[in-house]
Amino acid sequence: MEKGAKIYVAGHTGLVGSALVRALERAGHTNLVLRSHAELELTDGAAVRAFFERETPAYVFVAAAKVGGIVANNSYRAEFIYQNLQISANVIHESSRAGVKRLLYLGSSCIYPRDCPQPMKEDYLLTGPLELTNRPYAVSKIAGIELCWSYNRQYGTQFIAAMPTNLYGLGDNYDLETSHVLPALIRKAHEAKTRGDKELVVWGTGNPRREFLYSDDAAEACLFLMNLPVEKFGTFLANESAPPLVNVGCGEDQTIRALAELVAEVVGFGGRLVFDPSKPDGTPRKLQDVSRLKALGWSPHIALRKGIARAYADFQSRFGEIASADAANTR
Ligand SMILES: NC(=O)c1ccc[n+]([C@@H]2O[C@H](COP(=O)([O-])OP(=O)(O)OC[C@H]3O[C@@H](n4cnc5c(N)ncnc54)[C@H](OP(=O)(O)O)[C@@H]3O)[C@@H](O)[C@H]2O)c1
Repeated sequence: MEKGAKIYVAGHTGLVGSALVRALERAGHTNLVLRSHAELELTDGAAVRAFFERETPAYVFVAAAKVGGIVANNSYRAEFIYQNLQISANVIHESSRAGVKRLLYLGSSCIYPRDCPQPMKEDYLLTGPLELTNRPYAVSKIAGIELCWSYNRQYGTQFIAAMPTNLYGLGDNYDLETSHVLPALIRKAHEAKTRGDKELVVWGTGNPRREFLYSDDAAEACLFLMNLPVEKFGTFLANESAPPLVNVGCGEDQTIRALAELVAEVVGFGGRLVFDPSKPDGTPRKLQDVSRLKALGWSPHIALRKGIARAYADFQSRFGEIASADAANTR
């Protein structure tokens, strides 16, 4: 991406989008086009068309999506599939019409089958049944990948799909109704520490294995992919039997139990961890095979402990006092 090129980051206020903006600014890109959800409703096809016709960005990152954890995905199934299909179709279609040079579409590792062999390779897409709790979301993200592939094949676009593993980092969502496991653990550990609790209840058995990547690392990987030289980027486009898909992860996982212990240590909660097996575990294991990304020349920089410490510092600066007061009130 040329330094002065116009770059649109859809969803720039989100976890991934904000990390993308930081990464682009670090790399010296100054011509960023950013619209908040309030300014541009991406499920509105006419509004998206008008935006692309007016702005004609050269590069597009699609980090806008309706996103949530198990509870939100399972409860708001219709909204998750409808809104995400609309966002993906509108942004990808209008990017093609507007002659965008390259587009990077963000999906997630939930696109792979529930009982996928581990680690999950890109080739395992659509080889088995999906996890039921987030199936509507996963199907919408698979449709996004298929859109990228189809536009590449029919119109010669250069659209690529990146599938990050579980992400966490600055500006994460700490609402326990809608958050992912790691930010939820950070908040719960902080509140338990503040109340002086002896126990911290963690959802599920603690046995599922998960992989985590710091959001700034994921953003760096996305920029790396967008900047691949033509001969390497082209390998994703020329393939008629496989979609233009790359896993983005660190290639290492741990149990939720080990993760909870690490969070408790970083946050400074000294009590006991109690696991509640009546709550859903979700997929037993999720570890991405990142050999494709590694072979291209990228690997992460921020280790899990360091990333959790940064995320916790961010949580404290944003919510520390409020969360502590809430914790004190529920004593
Ligand atoms: N977080 C993770 O662990 C993770 C892991 C793997 C992949 N990903 C992928 O990365 C992408 C972004 O996830 P995220 O975690 O950054 O989500 P996020 O923090 O919830 O951010 C989503 C962004 O999209 C915007 N948005 C949502 N609906 C919109 C709409 N209808 N019109 C315009 N803007 C809209 C949001 O704005 P408002 O907040 O104002 O609605 C926000 O800026 C998703 O495709 C997700 O699957 C995330």
